[in-house]
Amino acid sequence: MGRKQNDSEPAHYTSLILLSVVLISCAVVYTFLSVVLRPGRTSSVSEFESLGLGQEGGGVEGESVGCCRGIENLELWGNAVKWGSEFKFNSSEQCCKACKAMCSGSDGPCLCDSWVFCGNREACGQKFGECWLKKQKDTLAPERQDMGQKVIWTSGLIFGKGEGIVGLETEYGTLHIKLFPDCAPHSVLYILELLTLRHCAGCKFYRAETRGHSWDSDGNHIKNTPFGPPFALIQGTLEPLGTTFKRIPTEACPIIRRGSVAWIGSGPEFFISLANHQEWKNAYTVFGSVLPEDMEIAERIAQLPSKPDVWNNINVSVMEKPVSLSLRRIKTSNGDLNRNVGSN
Ligand SMILES: *[C@@H]1O[C@H](CO)[C@@H](O)[C@H](O)[C@H]1NC(C)=O
Ligand SMILES: *[C@@H]1O[C@H](CO)[C@@H](O)[C@H](O)[C@H]1NC(C)=O
Repeated sequence: MGRKQNDSEPAHYTSLILLSVVLISCAVVYTFLSVVLRPGRTSSVSEFESLGLGQEGGGVEGESVGCCRGIENLELWGNAVKWGSEFKFNSSEQCCKACKAMCSGSDGPCLCDSWVFCGNREACGQKFGECWLKKQKDTLAPERQDMGQKVIWTSGLIFGKGEGIVGLETEYGTLHIKLFPDCAPHSVLYILELLTLRHCAGCKFYRAETRGHSWDSDGNHIKNTPFGPPFALIQGTLEPLGTTFKRIPTEACPIIRRGSVAWIGSGPEFFISLANHQEWKNAYTVFGSVLPEDMEIAERIAQLPSKPDVWNNINVSVMEKPVSLSLRRIKTSNGDLNRNVGSN
């Protein structure tokens, strides 16, 4: 960590490329693109080590549709809506899908918002394959029974329509963010932990770049224009002062779309995109999306006064005055993210 700007010397670079050959998806593209978003003071070689833990790495083109991931060595508690002793599957994905199947889609909260699966044949013994479907008292504060290496269970969360939305409060308004626990479970667990802190001192946006002349108001790239700078994003950090940040593993890395909320590397630096960035490929873990109606707040923040700076040979715009932010719970919302996803 804490490297200086001259970090792309050949030796480093070569080893990064070697690593990338082995790692797929996020990792490969990340090598070449992270530089666009990396603040000068943040390391990224060390972030790389964590990529080895990454799973198959997404490839999810839409938003949360299609993901069904959980967190190993975590046992969530909660009322069972389906008892696992009689309900068995071969994989955590199947268990997760069974939970999702209880969300009818159009009529509000899911009957099942969390699942707990025993997937290690040896450790689970008789319990192997058990899939418990549960309903939390409070979807944004799931009850944890146990966590750590000894825990044989894998657990995941499912947020239905209008659920799992948190507010990113700024002096310019509150950005409502729909979280994607099925695509980025570790990331979302971190966000839910931040929610319980009730403060996020030090959390702020510090970089502001408009869509310039390169992307239209729907976030689509305009033909024959450069892909930035400016890069159509607002960037900040979600690390409260006085806490120890644990790097977040690479999770699903779909194409960045207008509204996508994603980590830079393994956090806590993050950004909200104002544009569809196909050119960045699958480089970043996306853990949520800003509800379309709040994008004008993001646009406004992107236009705040900024001064030019250069990070790793990239021209960036740093806010003259960072914008503090805090996280807060949103009880219900009529916001339906699916409108934003499009039909591809
Ligand atoms: C799980 O796998 C076994 C054999 O590998 C198969 O017989 C069984 O049908 C599978 N169960 C499910 C629910 O897919
Ligand atoms: C970066 O900014 C400098 C002047 O501020 C300019 O000369 C240079 O062309 C810019 N580079 C890019 C890639 O836009």
